[in-house]
Amino acid sequence: MNKNVLITGGAGFIGSHLADELLENGYNVRVLDNMSEQVHGKQCKRPQYLNSAIELIKGDVRDPKKVQEVLKGMDAVYHYAAMVGVGQSMYEIKEYTEVNNLGTAVLLEALSKNPVEKLVVASSMSIYGEGLYRDNNNTIKAGVERSLRQLKAGDWEMHDEAGNILNPYPTPETKTPSLSSVYALSKYDQERLCLMIGKAYNIPTVALRFFNVYGTRQSLSNPYTGVLAIFASRLLNDNPVLIFEDGNQKRDFVSVLDIARASRLAMESPGANNEVFNIGSGNAYTINEIAGKLSEILNKEDIIPEICGKYRVGDIRHCFSDISKAKQILGYEPEVSLEQGLIELAEWLEGQTADDKVTMARHELAVRGLTV
Ligand SMILES: NC(=O)c1ccc[n+]([C@@H]2O[C@H](COP(=O)([O-])OP(=O)(O)OC[C@H]3O[C@@H](n4cnc5c(N)ncnc54)[C@H](O)[C@@H]3O)[C@@H](O)[C@H]2O)c1
Repeated sequence: MNKNVLITGGAGFIGSHLADELLENGYNVRVLDNMSEQVHGKQCKRPQYLNSAIELIKGDVRDPKKVQEVLKGMDAVYHYAAMVGVGQSMYEIKEYTEVNNLGTAVLLEALSKNPVEKLVVASSMSIYGEGLYRDNNNTIKAGVERSLRQLKAGDWEMHDEAGNILNPYPTPETKTPSLSSVYALSKYDQERLCLMIGKAYNIPTVALRFFNVYGTRQSLSNPYTGVLAIFASRLLNDNPVLIFEDGNQKRDFVSVLDIARASRLAMESPGANNEVFNIGSGNAYTINEIAGKLSEILNKEDIIPEICGKYRVGDIRHCFSDISKAKQILGYEPEVSLEQGLIELAEWLEGQTADDKVTMARHELAVRGLTV
C-alpha cells in the first residue's frame, strides 16, 4: 500500500516541489498550510502549480487541534512550514518565534501522541553564520567575525590577526553554529527540538540544512525570500537589482529539484536517522555573478545593478556547503547545474507578474537601523 506523507508548508516553494517528487515516487501527499498572505498573496487561493492529487488542508501549525487532525493516518511528516526572511525576522521577532519555534513545538507534541515512521525537518545554512575560512598557512578558521567598525569602513572581507584576507572554505555539518538572526535561531531550535523529541519518542528524524534554494514557484511578491526570486522580481519590473556590500559575497545556489530529491532520499534512507545533512550544490558564486547571469538570461543586461555598499545586520560574508556527508549517506548528488536551473527559471518567469516590494523592505530595515 502507498505510504501517506504530510508536508507542513507544502503549498510553498520547496514543499510543492517535494510533493511532486513524492507523488512521482508513489506516495500519497497531504499538505497543511495556512496559505500565508506574504507568500500566496491577498486571495490566499490554492496555487495553480499545486498538483491536483495533493490533499490541501488550510490550517496553522500553531493550532494543536488542526495538527492532531491532519496527522491521522500519516506514515511520515516533513516539517517545512516556516516564516523565511532573515532581515524581517530581526523586527517581526514575535511572529517568527511563534510560527517557527512554537509551531514546531505544537507539531512535536502532537507527534508524541501519534508517532510516525519518519520525521524530516527543514533546517538552514543560516545556522552556521559565517562559513569556514582558510589562512595562508592552510589552517582552517571557524568563528571569525567582522567588526562593525570594519563594516562601516566598507572593508567587507574576513581577516586574520595579521590583517591578511582569509579564503572561504566549504562548510561541513561539524561547524559550530553561530546564530546571527532570529530566523537562524528559530531554524536551529526547530532542528534541535525535532531531533530531541524524535529520539525521546522513537521517531526516526532527519534535519536537512538547505543552502540558497532557487527555482520555479518561489514567491515573487515576497521581498524577504530567496535572492534569485527577489532579483527576478526587480528585473521583471525593469528595476535595478539591489546588492548589499560590494556584491562579492559568496553563496551556494542549489536547485529546488535537487532539494526535493534530497528530501525524499532522507525519508527513504535508514542510515540518515537522527542525523543532520547539508543540502547544497557544493559550488560557490558571488552575488554579482548571480545578478549578471540572471540579467543575461532575462535580456535585462542594460539595467545596471545598484551596489549599495551597506551591510545588513545578521548577514554573513561567505558560506557554501561541504556535501560529502549527504553524498555518502543519502546517495545525494546535485543533478541540476546553475546554467540549466536558470534556463528553467527564466522560462517560468516569462508567464509571471511580480509585485516588487523591495523598496518597502529596504526601508523597513533602514528605519530600524538594521543596515549599516
Ligand atoms: N528557500 C530557501 O532558500 C531555504 C533555505 C533554507 C531553509 N529553507 C526552509 O525550507 C522551508 C520551506 O521554505 P520555502 O522557501 O519553500 O518557503 P515558502 O515561504 O515558499 O513556503 C513556506 C510555506 O509555509 C507556509 N506557512 C507559513 N506559516 C505557516 C503556519 N503558521 N502554518 C502553516 N503553514 C505556514 C506558507 O504559507 C508557505 O506556503 C522553510 O522551513 C525554510 O525555513 C528554505
